[in-house]
Amino acid sequence: MPNQANLETNIIKMNDNKSVDLSTEDLHVWYGENEAIKGVSLEFEENKITSLIGPSGCGKSTYLRSLNRMNDEIESAKVTGKIMYKGIDVNASNVDVYEMRKNIGMVFQRPNPFSKSIYDNITFALKRHGIKDKNTLDEAVETSLKQAALWDQVKDQLNKSALALSGGQQQRLCIARAIALKPDILLLDEPASALDPISTSQVEETLLQLKEEYSIVIVTHNMQQASRISDYTAFFYVGNVIEYDETRKVFTRPKIQATEDYVSGHFG
Ligand SMILES: Nc1ncnc2c1ncn2[C@@H]1O[C@H](COP(=O)(O)OP(=O)(O)OP(=O)(O)O)[C@@H](O)[C@H]1O
Ligand SMILES: [Mg+2]
Repeated sequence: MPNQANLETNIIKMNDNKSVDLSTEDLHVWYGENEAIKGVSLEFEENKITSLIGPSGCGKSTYLRSLNRMNDEIESAKVTGKIMYKGIDVNASNVDVYEMRKNIGMVFQRPNPFSKSIYDNITFALKRHGIKDKNTLDEAVETSLKQAALWDQVKDQLNKSALALSGGQQQRLCIARAIALKPDILLLDEPASALDPISTSQVEETLLQLKEEYSIVIVTHNMQQASRISDYTAFFYVGNVIEYDETRKVFTRPKIQATEDYVSGHFG
């Protein structure tokens, strides 16, 4: 198990001139009395994939959910500190959460398509955001399904129920649904954990293509996945980030013993 002394070093930032759209500063999250995130400061570089790794229960999902205020939905949750998105404090009370989530989209662990057609899954939120023009909607459906590497498989059956798709296809549909809104940032919480290896590698391919246009933050338990797809990796341990660096450094030359123990499979 990691040395407690290592847990002091929880503030880690990219300190060169990287382009950063999203960051947190001294972020704390409580569920009632339980402090799940204990002052995490991280910066996410634009057009890169950042993996959040660490043992179960260490706060990865809590942290990820706070980035677009999904914790607002949890009554006992209290968030303090700053979440900065393009100079705006996401956590401020006057932020329009609905609009903000258009820019900071999220994909969950279990594919959760609406019980609607493939076409309607993608256009639902666009319509709620006031887009009515059929050509614009058709185009959004095609573009986002192409970006999510699903278009070729479903283009002739857009009216079919999304629930009739395979798990991997459903997850790519959820990715398409998120990117149809053209977010800047895509948050994904273990998006491939319910998928077979082939669907997993398709989702990974999709993410690698998407980073050309989006900044991606992904929670994963799969060390191979983190090292295959991410540029940066943050290691979470009991509510703190104890190491944050380029992925290849985290996996080959970690600075902290706990990180080395975790990435080499000794605990967690
Ligand atoms: N909705 C909730 N209400 C109360 N406590 C919660 C809630 N969600 C998470 N917690 C608590 O917060 C801590 C961090 O949980 P979190 O789900 O963020 O961990 P995680 O790193 O994502 O774990 P896993 O790898 O198992 O998904 C845990 O102690 C958990 O019990
Ligand atoms: Mg989790």
